[in-house]
Amino acid sequence: PVMNELFGLVELEEKIRQAYGLRKVVIIPGDSESSPEVKRELGRAGARTLLSFVENGDTIAVTGGSTLAEVAEQMPALPNGESLTDTWFVPARGGLGESMEIQANTIASKMAKRVGAEYRLLHVPDLLSEDAYQSLVQDQHIQEIVDVIRRCRVIIHGIGDAMEMARRRKLDDSSIQGLQADGAIAESFGYYFSEDGEVVHKMLTLGLRLEDIMRTETIIGIAGGQGKGKAIHAVLRFGHENILVTDEAAALEIEKEI
Ligand code: F6P
Repeated sequence: PVMNELFGLVELEEKIRQAYGLRKVVIIPGDSESSPEVKRELGRAGARTLLSFVENGDTIAVTGGSTLAEVAEQMPALPNGESLTDTWFVPARGGLGESMEIQANTIASKMAKRVGAEYRLLHVPDLLSEDAYQSLVQDQHIQEIVDVIRRCRVIIHGIGDAMEMARRRKLDDSSIQGLQADGAIAESFGYYFSEDGEVVHKMLTLGLRLEDIMRTETIIGIAGGQGKGKAIHAVLRFGHENILVTDEAAALEIEKEI
């Protein structure tokens, strides 16, 4: 029975891969929303997948969130004392505002230390006011790190349900209603997406922009849990993902959308 289950997931991986034109899909058994053990496995699969696409010399942009925090936690040291000495880990965007453990800065530095790579941090908030944005964007140190981020070759990012992320970011009621009215289903990289993959709202933030995401060679999305199926589908419809790491519960929901 175990083997059948595994073969079933292999078929589902291939079905999802073809439906969205992806390079690779990895599905682990179970539901990471209800099982911490499955969430750890999702993190481990994410770490393994990331390392299989990284070459020494790359710059890797990582987002925040509990899933990426688990990827960092599960990131193995490289075999034979090897290290990625010319590789840089950077946060994809400013992330101060989320709790410390799930901030992109924390995650980027942790991943870098595990594999002997370098890291740089971006000390700006997740959500910026227009005034704050205008002054931060002039700062030379911030400009430098933003340039490094925008030239990344690999992105690994989380995907969230739009309403859940709006609440986690403590958006006010009228912004939440606005997102709902615009049909926001998913959130990723600070962008909110409708079910057909259109960007319906952008957060004012520093770091990766849509045009960077569109030209980046390797983009790994990682998200699981039954409740995220529709959100993952929406981001896949956006059409710039190329690798998906997910769990069975989300994959079965994605399958319904195909
Ligand atoms: O806030 C960073 C972020 O990566 C969001 O873009 C994404 O929606 C969310 O975190 C995913 O968080 P989690 O893995 O905790 O569901």
